[in-house]
Amino acid sequence: MERPVKPLNPSELQPSDKALVPFVSVDNMMRLIHHIGVEPMLRDLAAYIEADFKRWDLFDKTPRVASHSDVGVIELMPTSDGEAYGFKYVNGHPKNTREGLQTVTAFGLLADVYTGYPVLLTEMTLLTAMRTAATSAMAAKYLAPTGSRTMAMIGNGAQAEFQSLAMKALVGIDTVRLYDIDSRATEKAARNLAGSGLTVVACTSAEKAIEGAQILTTCTADKANATILTDNMVGAGVHINAIGGDCPGKTELHRDIVARAGMFVEYPPQTRIEGELQQMPEDHPFTELWQVISGAAPGRRDAQQVTLFDSVGFAIEDFSALRYIRDHIRGTAYYMDLDLLADPDDPRDLFGMLMRAKG
Ligand SMILES: NC(=O)c1ccc[n+]([C@@H]2O[C@H](COP(=O)([O-])OP(=O)(O)OC[C@H]3O[C@@H](n4cnc5c(N)ncnc54)[C@H](O)[C@@H]3O)[C@@H](O)[C@H]2O)c1
Repeated sequence: MERPVKPLNPSELQPSDKALVPFVSVDNMMRLIHHIGVEPMLRDLAAYIEADFKRWDLFDKTPRVASHSDVGVIELMPTSDGEAYGFKYVNGHPKNTREGLQTVTAFGLLADVYTGYPVLLTEMTLLTAMRTAATSAMAAKYLAPTGSRTMAMIGNGAQAEFQSLAMKALVGIDTVRLYDIDSRATEKAARNLAGSGLTVVACTSAEKAIEGAQILTTCTADKANATILTDNMVGAGVHINAIGGDCPGKTELHRDIVARAGMFVEYPPQTRIEGELQQMPEDHPFTELWQVISGAAPGRRDAQQVTLFDSVGFAIEDFSALRYIRDHIRGTAYYMDLDLLADPDDPRDLFGMLMRAKG
């Protein structure tokens, strides 16, 4: 789509030297998150994502560009609101944890559409965990039964604590019931959440974890179709937050649950190939989450309805997170300027700049 572009407000977005790009390292991201506070930042991120979902039509949208191998996937997730352009590089390699590596790592970039110059480069492994949790909680705020207090958290890997704290901060849960096939993951999550204000219950099966829970979050990593929840496990009125199924051939829920739940999705062309929706026929009904958030479509129909947020992670959520970081590092020590862009005195004398640097 072509549209007229205004330059971004230079004082807001560009470093004083336009060739220097603010860079947020993992170290600085950790400091920034602690400076703001995990829960306040989750609330802030949800507000940024919500604001961008309300202007959904403005964005260039495309399913992410995925390169699959037999061990994982590498993806690029681009979008633009016409003034800024953002993308995230992210991988998904379930076998990585066995080799001491993360399943998901990421970094991202925001650029000025008017000049094409990057205005932010940042780590996004932590930021993805934060934005994914903020998105889950934003969806649950609209879809989960009123007064939800308990969440079952199935899959206690890297995302688990973020998901739990976001549901506490935005939805008001006070109890999380943990389950993972690997008890060491559950122990790790329980340890990390001790002192968070949540009552943490470590469970030995998915069936035990869902007892009394109004919100069921599945966040497991596998490269295949799995059945983390079967139909008989899902009682009337619960909200399911299914975030682990996010690749072709990778799902978490039994088809019968998907068939009877009210389904809410991010960007349908992407969810169709990556989400639980891939199990369903073309005409299976769903609602786009942005429509619920903007008031164009209803959320939960009644207290008996099972609602399902079929989360796969969409580029606009990363764009919101990049926008948030850009706005919150200004005037702080939580970034460094990177010499990323060539900057010859005469824009056409790139070769001369190279030659002058010769020793
Ligand atoms: N929707 C999104 O926006 C989004 C964002 C980030 C990650 N993800 C996806 O979420 C998943 C989890 O990510 P992560 O970073 O926490 O991965 P991780 O590898 O750190 O953790 C996954 C956990 O799932 C557990 N697990 C696997 N199969 C299970 C089963 N059958 N029952 C219970 N537990 C099981 C593993 O033991 C592991 O502890 C990945 O598939 C990732 O691609 C989605």
